[in-house]
Amino acid sequence: MNENTIPLEHGPLSRRRFLRTTSTAVGGALVAGLAVERAAHAAGNDQIKVALVGCGGRGSGAANQALSTNANIKLVAMADAFRDRLESSLNDLKAKHPGKVEVSEDHKFVGFDAYKQAFAAADVVVLTTPPGFRPMHFEEAVKQGKHVFMEKPVAVDGPGVRRVLAAAEEAKKKNLKVGVGLQRHHQPGYIETVKRLHDGAIGDIVSMRCYWNDGGVWVKPRQPGQTEMEYQMRNWYYFVWLSGDHICEQHIHNLDVINWVKNGYPVKCHGMGGRQVRTGKDYGEIYDHHAVEYEYADGSRLASQCRHIRGCWSSVSEAVVGTTGSCDVNSHIIRGANAWRYKKPEMPHDPYQQEHDDLFAAIRNNTPFNEAFNGAKSSLTSVMGRMATYSGQVIEWDKALNSEIDVMPKRIAWDALPQSLPDKDGLYPIAIPGVSQTV
Ligand SMILES: NC(=O)c1ccc[n+]([C@@H]2O[C@H](COP(=O)([O-])OP(=O)(O)OC[C@H]3O[C@@H](n4cnc5c(N)ncnc54)[C@H](O)[C@@H]3O)[C@@H](O)[C@H]2O)c1
Repeated sequence: MNENTIPLEHGPLSRRRFLRTTSTAVGGALVAGLAVERAAHAAGNDQIKVALVGCGGRGSGAANQALSTNANIKLVAMADAFRDRLESSLNDLKAKHPGKVEVSEDHKFVGFDAYKQAFAAADVVVLTTPPGFRPMHFEEAVKQGKHVFMEKPVAVDGPGVRRVLAAAEEAKKKNLKVGVGLQRHHQPGYIETVKRLHDGAIGDIVSMRCYWNDGGVWVKPRQPGQTEMEYQMRNWYYFVWLSGDHICEQHIHNLDVINWVKNGYPVKCHGMGGRQVRTGKDYGEIYDHHAVEYEYADGSRLASQCRHIRGCWSSVSEAVVGTTGSCDVNSHIIRGANAWRYKKPEMPHDPYQQEHDDLFAAIRNNTPFNEAFNGAKSSLTSVMGRMATYSGQVIEWDKALNSEIDVMPKRIAWDALPQSLPDKDGLYPIAIPGVSQTV
């Protein structure tokens, strides 16, 4: 079977399904064969213990959302590569959830191996490091039998995607619940719009476009005495082994929406990109713009752009054209014979909270929930786009998936060297289309 004709495996709950599953919570708890610990959670008489690995901006946010779910829940362990990040996140979470944060000194873990010890203390693990580490962390979490929330992207190269897909299969066998931070799948406006598109509101979808064009992110200047590994870790966004480039890091959200709408993944792509403005030594090795044309199994094309350049036109959006109408997916507007517009609720809806509410409801009710397959395939969609812009070649899905190019350092330690190193002027090698090999 062609990989790309396989329907998406999102697994998120629509609002209706969410209400149905929560109202049958007690029945769910009676399902035969529930693992003892999960049966206890479902009965509501046990505490769910959470560990946070990667205590930065999103990690602190995700832990806050996990602790805000309707569950008897405690944060019991934290791990980070850097102690300063762990301590500031802990202070922030303690202030927000005084009764729910119990991280003792011996449950604060620092360094590259910290994740393993943190996992051991928990039932659910929140994985929010830079994405290069995700395959390694997800694999270990599944091995230890933990439920997982992990941020997107879930991998930055072919070997990483394969590891996540294999661990996702294992998670399914172990009945572990896995949420992935592609929160648009938990946002009612998107859910209702995509449902209408799937029901044929604009006929066959023949043309798509999506953008993440904005000004880019922070820079952390090199500090005296820092090892190269520490410098790259602090500036992870600018290194492919850590972030995958911004086409993976941010544009994945828009590519994933188009995959969702198309109910499949692209078969190939080609594109162009480069560094026009962000060229100095503070910007590592990534490009500042990519434009990629993807082709889906039915021959329809997606025009994708992502740009990180200040002072330019900005747009973070998705739109599609069908045989009988068109749709601005992010604005939730359908035009044509079945014109429709999503009515905003009076209370604004927070998809970051909803994705945790849905994950913890699935844990309590023991309902199927595994977003790792789609997370891995949408991550591969963005990885193949980078492979295309860096190389200037057509990249097929299978070639990207089966690529043996592993961008991770051979050894991960503070005194180890990443594969990409600066020259005497502090500048890193940059991919050159027509020359660089990416698969
Ligand atoms: N879904 C969304 O809308 C959304 C929004 C923001 C960020 N994110 C994702 O969240 C992830 C983290 O982003 P962020 O903005 O929080 O970055 P950040 O730099 O603020 O946090 C990352 C943290 O991970 C730690 N870390 C790095 N390597 C580690 C390792 N091997 N073991 C343990 N800790 C490690 C860092 O020290 C840092 O504290 C990224 O994948 C990003 O794409 C998603």
